[in-house]
Amino acid sequence: MSGVILSTRELPEPFDSLRGDFDVRVLGGATGELELAAEIPGVDALICLVDDAVTGTVIQAADRLRIIASYAVGVDQIDRAAAAARGIVVTNTPNVLTDATADLTLALLLSLSRRIVEGDRMVRAGGFAGWAPDLLLGRDLKGKVFGVIGPGRIGKAVARRAKAFGMTVIAFGRSPRHEGDPDDPPRVSFDELLRRSDVVSIHVPLTEDTRRLFGAETFAKMKPGSLLLNTARGPIVDEVALARALEAGTLAGAGLDVYEHEPAITPALLDDDRVVMMPHAGSATVETRREMARMVVEDVRRVLSGEKPLRPVPPEGARR
Ligand code: DGY
Repeated sequence: MSGVILSTRELPEPFDSLRGDFDVRVLGGATGELELAAEIPGVDALICLVDDAVTGTVIQAADRLRIIASYAVGVDQIDRAAAAARGIVVTNTPNVLTDATADLTLALLLSLSRRIVEGDRMVRAGGFAGWAPDLLLGRDLKGKVFGVIGPGRIGKAVARRAKAFGMTVIAFGRSPRHEGDPDDPPRVSFDELLRRSDVVSIHVPLTEDTRRLFGAETFAKMKPGSLLLNTARGPIVDEVALARALEAGTLAGAGLDVYEHEPAITPALLDDDRVVMMPHAGSATVETRREMARMVVEDVRRVLSGEKPLRPVPPEGARR
């Protein structure tokens, strides 16, 4: 086997094993369109992350590229239509990060409902003066309604966890419910989900249909005092509208792992204690990231040796 592999970052093992068989070049971080377009000639395989700009311009500049492997389940950073037009396969890392992302979603919810971050700050600042009946009162999850936007793999894993906390789960999504799958929540309309849910959790991919799906109009339809969770993609939520909905009291809080203009964050959200934030870390466990690297390496090796990849993503309408 031979060929040139360009990766925008070093990855966990077994990434290093590629160096024995290929010319592996590694860039130093999130890579923009112009830099990638300059680096791509002569490259056979590109390994990219969620914050790289694999645009049509980059793909046009490629002269030998056979595979674009996303070290993520999301592929919205890649112009898949342009890749398909050039016969370049796109792959991703599905399934393996489902549980890690679902765990983080529930961690954000528990942080909000039990005010974990506030409590931690208070204790460290010396503010714990002893037990008090009204100290840091949170809200129970049991008996509340949890609305899943996008009951795919991650949405269902989150639903299973929410049920374990005694919540009633409902979902809005394009796919019909799989009868007989106890993790697959009953479907309701978008508006009914917003009206009934105490917690709304986003698990759809970023597409032109979902971009800014949560804006002022949507927030106005949400149950007063509800919580929003987003561990999917930042641009699905209009951050300025979210800050306003929090200010107006329409929402009681938000748990965010992803941001509209990552890594920048709308200042009003940074200043709001009712927002719990993580730095796009849904899949960030040692085990998951290692498995994602294994999948990427496997598919790059397969394509460069003339085999079909195991995890191709269709040009349009890919399911996450
Ligand atoms: C994904 O896989 O799409 C996550 O956002 C990054 O791990």
